[in-house]
Amino acid sequence: MRRPVSSYPDIMDKIVIEGGHELHGEIRISGAKNAALPIIAATLLTPGWHTLYNVPDLRDIRTILSLMATLGVVWEKNGPDTLRINTADLSGCEASYDLVKTMRASVLVLGPLLVRMGRARVSLPGGCAIGARPINFHTQGLKKLGAEVVLEQGYVEAVISNRLPGGTVYFDFPSVTGTENLLMAAVLAKGTTVLKNVAREPEIGNLIDMLISMGAEIEGRDTDKLIIYGVESLNPAEITIIPDRIETGTYLIAVGAVGGEVKLTHCDPALLPALTEKLRLAGLDLTEMADCFLVRGNGSPLSVDIKTMVYPGFPTDLQAQMMALMTFADGTSFINETIFENRFMHVAELRRLGADIKVDGASAIVRGSGGLTGAKVMATDLRASASLVIAGLAAHGVTEVSRVYHLDRGYENLVKKLTGVGAVIQRKEDN
Ligand code: EPZ
Repeated sequence: MRRPVSSYPDIMDKIVIEGGHELHGEIRISGAKNAALPIIAATLLTPGWHTLYNVPDLRDIRTILSLMATLGVVWEKNGPDTLRINTADLSGCEASYDLVKTMRASVLVLGPLLVRMGRARVSLPGGCAIGARPINFHTQGLKKLGAEVVLEQGYVEAVISNRLPGGTVYFDFPSVTGTENLLMAAVLAKGTTVLKNVAREPEIGNLIDMLISMGAEIEGRDTDKLIIYGVESLNPAEITIIPDRIETGTYLIAVGAVGGEVKLTHCDPALLPALTEKLRLAGLDLTEMADCFLVRGNGSPLSVDIKTMVYPGFPTDLQAQMMALMTFADGTSFINETIFENRFMHVAELRRLGADIKVDGASAIVRGSGGLTGAKVMATDLRASASLVIAGLAAHGVTEVSRVYHLDRGYENLVKKLTGVGAVIQRKEDN
């Protein structure tokens, strides 16, 4: 049964938050968006029924499933977070601009489609709010592995005659989806592939686990060098999606901003080494257990400095949320964004709430003012919208965050989860 893309909440909704209510209780963390997306794309590598457990119900997941449906893929939901996918009857190998422009991660179908079908035509994703987001590492890497790749009329056209030969690729920068795309292409290559200076985010480890359970031969999980011994064919498999570390970090930071005591369940504290270090320095009381966090905050964090780095460094996807926290600190914090060239879109909106933030290129200086005042603000991208929600939870008065479709891309049931721990937060039509 396919659910139409239009079945999710109205895209022009807003979120209205009455600030100042501490958070107390339990929040269940969902599966990781950035693990589910490449794993869904990996099902293109072989026919048969694949089963994915702990899949989050998000706009981005529906977007890639809509894209897969245009390729002839069938899928069904078995219960709230189990997805079964069958790519036996692929009818096409083109990912159109209309779909790819709504989610750049659609580029993840390029590698698997190419080696399954012998060719793939995928629209260039175009930029987004946080940067130009080129995919040269993906296209240059596929060429290095023996594909013919041309860019024309806004599309990447990749072709192989028979099987992808394989080869050695050195990443100028450890690109997350670049690593995932080449990894998925290499598993069905004729020869051996060596990928060097690859990304080491945990979501890549989850993808590697899926590929190995499908019969792929891969060495170097969690390291910066992957060796893939190409196999002739793969089998459908099942996998459990790892917990979403960015959703986890977002709620940890929220407790730090407004105060309270919350238990985050079904998460993996080991996936957030840099954030837990920084939050402890900021004065939060964090207890890590096997699959949950206990976090206590008093709403008066200490200032800390942040520099975003590739994993296991501080995640760029938590930079905006951390900046919101620092606006409540009693001091000055220095935030340096090294991954994306334009990931300070949330600054102008935080300033509307009274934040004192100076931006100079890739750096921001946040002077904690001991409090913000609610106002109308606008979400500009996924993690910026989370930053504004955190600010609204701790600000004096009411904050309205518009364009919450950005939030729907990466946060499952955010209003319900926060309401469940005492936040006064509602989703309304933004007339
Ligand atoms: C992934 O994006 C994540 N998305 C992003 O999460 C995350 O912010 C990012 O990794 C960094 O951790 C998914 O996994 C679906 P990159 P990705 O390739 O792979 C440059 C979210 O909030 N670059 O690691 O697109 C690029 O411009 C999203 O969930 C090239 O120059 O990021 C950026 O500056 C946002 N050429 C840097 O590398 C390329 O071919 C890192 O990008 C590819 C990337």
